[in-house]
Amino acid sequence: MTARGICWLDGEIRPLDQARIPVTDHGLLYGDGVFEGIRFYHGRPFLLAEHLTRLADSARAIALRLPRPLAEIADIVHAVVAAYPGPAGYLRLIVTRGPGPLGIDPTPCQTPNLIVIAAPLALVDEARRRRGVRLVTATTRRLGPDGLDPRIKSLNYLNAVLARLEAHHAGADEAVLLNARGHLAEGTADNLFLARDSVLLTPPVTDGALAGITRSLLLTLAAELDIPAREQSLAPYDLYTADECLLTGTGAELIPVREVDGRPLPHCPGPLTTRLMAAFRARIDTLAQPAG
Ligand SMILES: Cc1ncc(COP(=O)(O)O)c(C=O)c1O
Repeated sequence: MTARGICWLDGEIRPLDQARIPVTDHGLLYGDGVFEGIRFYHGRPFLLAEHLTRLADSARAIALRLPRPLAEIADIVHAVVAAYPGPAGYLRLIVTRGPGPLGIDPTPCQTPNLIVIAAPLALVDEARRRRGVRLVTATTRRLGPDGLDPRIKSLNYLNAVLARLEAHHAGADEAVLLNARGHLAEGTADNLFLARDSVLLTPPVTDGALAGITRSLLLTLAAELDIPAREQSLAPYDLYTADECLLTGTGAELIPVREVDGRPLPHCPGPLTTRLMAAFRARIDTLAQPAG
């Protein structure tokens, strides 16, 4: 199947299935690199500044030199969005360590690769988004900061991949990863929120959640809507006894959850989720609307 989309690489935008990088790139050999997923709506990247800041932080954390200043990377992102045949889609901004000799040492890799892909992405179809998704808790754990700090958005997603396979084999849509202490961390590519007694709760980043940009927006929207919200360590029990649950992420956007480990949730989408979904949509339309 040919992948639909376009890709900026080495100063040129080409069809996605014609973009190539050397097989000696340490991004491929060792998952050595960082990335961002960014949505664009109405022909404009959504929360681009926040994504670029996180990209720069991830790169600094792994001692990876960005191949261009952030302002130039932003220009490239805008050029890719302008070249994309449609007003909305998903961008994958990747910086790999670049080609080098075999061997894990990154220091001989002198030319990091910048790749910007624009393509369609829907984590779930609309019918499933309306109906809500089914989760399972995975046996695969999220690594803690003593393994690979979850704040680094790196190219190492193998434990997320394994957790997603567990979900697939269980006939569910998505997996929840716990940290080493058994606290809820997050989904495989999304953050987790639950509501109990009209309070919105989400695991703290210190429990293994990525500092999700959608998560952060959701906390802002909750404050604007006067919905009490806080970060709190949570156990599977809290998920099983929640009133509502939802997933957030750039790829996911907002996805209501209807069942966890075979236990149906009483409301899907629940009243808080419904209000937050409407506010999220409105924020996209305001922030992403072309100026003037
Ligand atoms: C592991 C993980 N958690 C959470 C998220 C959601 O983060 P954001 O809202 O910034 O896209 C992602 C997004 O890619 C992710 O990969």
